Amino acid sequence: MDNNEILRRISELKEEKNAVILAHNYARAEVQDIADLVGDSFSLSQAAVDLDTDMIVFAGVHFMAESAYILSPEKTILLPDADAGCPMADMVTVEPLREAKKKHPDAAVVCYVNSSAAVKAESDVCCTSANAKEVVSAIEEDEILFVPDKNLGHYISTLTDKKVHLWDGFCPIHQQITAFDALAAKSQHPNAVFLAHPECRPEVLELADGIFSTAGIIKYAAASNETEFIIGTEQEMMHKLRQDSPDKSFYPVSKYAYCANMKMATLPSILNALETETTKITVPDEIRIQAKKALDRMLEAVP
Ligand code: 13P
Ligand code: SF4
Repeated sequence: MDNNEILRRISELKEEKNAVILAHNYARAEVQDIADLVGDSFSLSQAAVDLDTDMIVFAGVHFMAESAYILSPEKTILLPDADAGCPMADMVTVEPLREAKKKHPDAAVVCYVNSSAAVKAESDVCCTSANAKEVVSAIEEDEILFVPDKNLGHYISTLTDKKVHLWDGFCPIHQQITAFDALAAKSQHPNAVFLAHPECRPEVLELADGIFSTAGIIKYAAASNETEFIIGTEQEMMHKLRQDSPDKSFYPVSKYAYCANMKMATLPSILNALETETTKITVPDEIRIQAKKALDRMLEAVP
């Protein structure tokens, strides 16, 4: 089947099944181009609730599709490739988290949305990179156990007076971006503004001019009067940045920042998901109901 035929079938099936395609900012460019909405984890979670649709094809990774199901179980949620996981999300599991909760009984557990449904069910509130600061400020407790991203957790600890206990998790893609990469990019592009995702190491964030979620980076660059930007996150971001601001220049901080899991949603795998509905994501009710409390608290804290 050629590309045009794939696109035609996707569009037919979307209409037939009242389906929408949601794509993360790291999804393949050609997938972003056919998506009904492209965004960061927070906007995509909100869309999962707000959209009046029967089916969502999630061009992202497992925890994103799982969150969509937790929030909207009446919708059919399809992840085009069931193997599209997030290695950081796998760095925290239920038993070690229960042990840590025993060690810090007064701490509220804040879990980054990059986590499994089972971990969300063990947490008090969820957050994304777009709202972590607001979520943490809205918490009554003065002590926080932040899982699983130590880099985002560390960044948040610099913005609050609360005591933050960190988990030893990280995104392998952002972790490999070094301060050396940032300094090299800055010396090559001395007039560029350096925008970084908070999953980067603290020493990289210290060199940044702005720290935002993926959607925050895109929004900032589009609105800015500056014309050159070094982008400290996954490289597919260049697609939307260049689409939105064709007259500006964007330089990836590292050519190695590539999330293979985010590329598993392809045009053929999206078509297959819509045709066969074999890659449905569900969560057992006992976990879903507990996990939903953590996601609802996030959406209430940052509507
Ligand atoms: P955003 O919520 O900023 O889109 O980030 C999600 C993610 O997985 C970044 O690695
Ligand atoms: Fe997970 Fe990192 Fe990929 Fe985001 S970029 S989905 S945190 S592995």
